[in-house]
Amino acid sequence: MKPTDMAKEGTEMTEETEHMIEKNGAKETENVVSAGDPKEMRAVILSGFGGLNKLRVTKKAMPEPQEGEVKIRVKACGLNFLDLMVRQGNIDSPPKTPLVPGFECSGIVEAMGENTKGFEIGDRVMTFVNYNAWAEVVCTPLDYVYNMPDDMTFPEAAAFSMNFVAAYMMLFEVANLREGMSVLVHSAGGGVGQAVAQLCSTIPGVTVFGTASSFKHEAIKDSVTHLFDRNVDYVQEVKKISPEGVDIVLDCLSGENTGKGLGLLRPLGTYILYGSSNMVTGETKSFFSLAKSWWQVEKVNPIKLYEENKVIAGFSLLNLLFKQGRCGQVKTVVEKLFSLYNQKKIKPVVDSLWALEEALWWESDRLTLHYSAWLSWFQKLIHPQRSAKSCQGGWHL
Ligand SMILES: NC(=O)c1ccc[n+]([C@@H]2O[C@H](COP(=O)([O-])OP(=O)(O)OC[C@H]3O[C@@H](n4cnc5c(N)ncnc54)[C@H](OP(=O)(O)O)[C@@H]3O)[C@@H](O)[C@H]2O)c1
Repeated sequence: MKPTDMAKEGTEMTEETEHMIEKNGAKETENVVSAGDPKEMRAVILSGFGGLNKLRVTKKAMPEPQEGEVKIRVKACGLNFLDLMVRQGNIDSPPKTPLVPGFECSGIVEAMGENTKGFEIGDRVMTFVNYNAWAEVVCTPLDYVYNMPDDMTFPEAAAFSMNFVAAYMMLFEVANLREGMSVLVHSAGGGVGQAVAQLCSTIPGVTVFGTASSFKHEAIKDSVTHLFDRNVDYVQEVKKISPEGVDIVLDCLSGENTGKGLGLLRPLGTYILYGSSNMVTGETKSFFSLAKSWWQVEKVNPIKLYEENKVIAGFSLLNLLFKQGRCGQVKTVVEKLFSLYNQKKIKPVVDSLWALEEALWWESDRLTLHYSAWLSWFQKLIHPQRSAKSCQGGWHL
């Protein structure tokens, strides 16, 4: 199945979900939204770091845009692996709780602060936010807001930003992917992994090696040239196919593979570390896995790098955006990605839409996904206006 076919299947599933919700709950949705107090909105709150019981939906004061900010009525927001790590407090310098999780969403511009040229009320936009995305309304500086392509749906937009921008910047801005190169990506069945595979397919002759849990192989086999189970010795498997190794290694497993990754690089190849999924081994933060992961981080000898002509790099999109002031650079990348989307060369894969109240179950789905064969793993989205059905269904959070 091609990435675009997988995306189509995901979209069909989403449409089906939407249709079911529309059919059963459209009236109630309208009532709930219109009956709301305009000074309040609903949001998912993380009351403290820990398990799923730390998440609940609650009312918060309606945010209003400050100078240079736009106010967005959220239609869909993404849940990334990072959100799960935030919930557990499994990140460096976590912010104080209570907080509203979420780093990306899409929606409609509802109001603007002063000095917000380039946007109008009613614009369909997607945005990065530094937390606060899992809410009915967000206010955010316009530097992080992008007008969506006409054909892009809100769920697609919310599944697009983090996965595709991170994948694009690592491949093209850090590693300089070119025709005929080869790429190894871990967690190839995840949101970033699938964005990497799709972007590689836009360049002629690129070979993609990927690792993923076996149960995902059937669904992603056409997007990845050579797929290995995450538990096999992938170094040996890659070398059997390509004795020279690969040009780019993308590693989101917190450095436990650094030595292997560097060992697999061809001369002038690039190894990029961009995540630490391996630190998540259960519902809550595990100090054992933290210690294990710290212990397993391998030391890199810079002299060897220079002798072997190898590049080692790190990448963090959120730091680039919110700590290092590179929103202009990211905006340029978003424009290039929208152009690829408009040419139908890439398409975000949406697995399903969940109501705001269901975020808790949704997170638990993603948490167990590593261990369960039947669960889906593509990008999932929260749909703040689709809460009525789940309220009716009787979720008590
Ligand atoms: N630096 C950045 O700018 C940036 C941006 C976006 C994401 N990320 C990072 O990229 C990674 C993937 O993110 P995503 O949103 O694409 O995630 P995702 O769609 O949820 O996929 C994550 C995958 O990681 C694997 N995994 C989960 N727990 C694991 C564990 N304990 N040990 C080893 N593998 C495990 C699983 O794949 P398999 O079981 O199939 O191996 C899982 O499907 C995360 O670490 C995330 O923080 C970084």
